[in-house]
Amino acid sequence: MEKFVVEGGARLQGQVRISGAKNASLALMPATLLAPGTYRLTNTPNLRDVRTMAQLLGEMGVDCQLHPDGTCIIDSRTVTSFEAPYEQVKKMRASFYVLGPLLARYGYARVSLPGGCAWGPRPVDLHLKGLEKLGADIRLERGYVVAKASKLRGTHIHLDVPSVGATGNLLMAAVLAEGTTVITNAAVEPEIQSLAEMLVAMGAHIEGIGTPTLRIEGVSELHPADVTTIPDRIEAGTFLVAAAMTRGTVQLVDVDPSLLTAVLAKLEEAGCQLETGTDTITITMEDAPRPTDITTAPYPGFPTDMQAQWTAFMTLAPGTSRITDTIFHDRFKHVPELVRLGADIQVVDNTAIVNGGTPLMGAKVMSTDLRASAALILAALVAENTSEILRIYHIDRGYERIEEKLQALGARIQRVATDEF
Ligand code: EPZ
Repeated sequence: MEKFVVEGGARLQGQVRISGAKNASLALMPATLLAPGTYRLTNTPNLRDVRTMAQLLGEMGVDCQLHPDGTCIIDSRTVTSFEAPYEQVKKMRASFYVLGPLLARYGYARVSLPGGCAWGPRPVDLHLKGLEKLGADIRLERGYVVAKASKLRGTHIHLDVPSVGATGNLLMAAVLAEGTTVITNAAVEPEIQSLAEMLVAMGAHIEGIGTPTLRIEGVSELHPADVTTIPDRIEAGTFLVAAAMTRGTVQLVDVDPSLLTAVLAKLEEAGCQLETGTDTITITMEDAPRPTDITTAPYPGFPTDMQAQWTAFMTLAPGTSRITDTIFHDRFKHVPELVRLGADIQVVDNTAIVNGGTPLMGAKVMSTDLRASAALILAALVAENTSEILRIYHIDRGYERIEEKLQALGARIQRVATDEF
């Protein structure tokens, strides 16, 4: 096992390159199941979750080669298994993305129901109802979804909530269905837009990309395509908050500011100075932040994946801030750990009420899920004395070499081996 040891107090200064988007790669990689051939996915981030997806596809007979420069070469000509076993899916909910493409191309899939992150149950009912509407026979057998379809047929699917995963799975199923599929109340997250663009590059007919209404004309077959992964807007937001918390000046490069409008607006509201270029964002913060409330919402609203990081930020704002998560009502596992660092936070229903302004004190804390771990690192960067963050395998799921990127900005953070769990 490993932990981070963080000495608080360093101001972050300098430049950091943002990696490709985890949640784009995790959709683009299974899309290669839809057409046999060789694909070149550039700017793929070197993350634990990406390696997990490569391993899952590998066990299905798909050859995935991840190169250090971020190029991922995928050869899907020899798919030999149409199953996603519990051992893989329990590690990563996004494994469920293989369901749609397997069903569309092979007419059969046996995929374990996801385990996913630590907080709350995360259903997949919208995925399954949508696939049934497309004509699939869906059965639940001992923790597995067994899906069969001789041919999927186009239909109208309305999503009760704009689910990112359900939109991705149903898009990948509909592109090879007979006839027209219309998905209304679809997710418009950039990662889903990039999946739709890859499918179009593969020969799919999709209209309305980037809007909540997607119209898909099914085709009989698709062909491979090469794709460049979009920058990770959540990694970018995380580094922006890190710079703001340490009152530093940091320039993000290889980033797309247009994917972060809600976060940039809230950073300005909190008192940060921001300067954006085509693929850069420079942030400067000289004082404590102003208390700034946020409420998460589907894109382009404030992302739930930035909620924990914002909670850490508001512990520095003298006064009261209210942080409400409307997407995942119980995504507050980071709060008790922030309280161990001296924060004054109460969670009432799906709102964290932060009374900020009291300095944080270093302590030993434990990661519970990916974004909670990020929040703990941010808090440790400003806490007095030393903090230790355990179970950092959570952070490695979604951040590429985070301690190296932070060290390059002046943070005093070390990854050390530990037998503590
Ligand atoms: C994606 O998860 C992301 N993961 C999550 O990022 C992100 O937090 C989430 O979207 C919301 O933006 C990937 O892209 C791999 P949803 P997903 O389906 O698709 C409900 C991270 O930190 N829902 O959009 O699982 C669900 O309970 C991860 O990178 C149903 O009710 O999220 C939730 O309340 C964490 N039925 C809401 O929709 C369903 O069938 C949004 O979930 C599916 C979802």
